[in-house]
Amino acid sequence: MNIQNPNLPSAPVIVELEAGSKIAYCTCGWSSKGVFCDGSHAKKETGMTPKILEITETKKYALCACRKTNNSPFCDGSHAR
Ligand code: FES
Repeated sequence: MNIQNPNLPSAPVIVELEAGSKIAYCTCGWSSKGVFCDGSHAKKETGMTPKILEITETKKYALCACRKTNNSPFCDGSHAR
């Protein structure tokens, strides 16, 4: 059973990421680091795991904070629907 935090922000997080870097995107919403995994998914036994993303282009990205996107980890506007 997946236990996702029900109290999440309703706007994306804009971050600049560098080509060649790797991020662990938090899918459970319990991380104290926002959209970046801090291991809380395991401590809270959520049954969820982070999504590992390899960045191929240096630019600003809109990462989904509400976790409703259908294009994880990127914002697709679902927070506004
Ligand atoms: S803390 Fe949420 S996926 Fe790791």
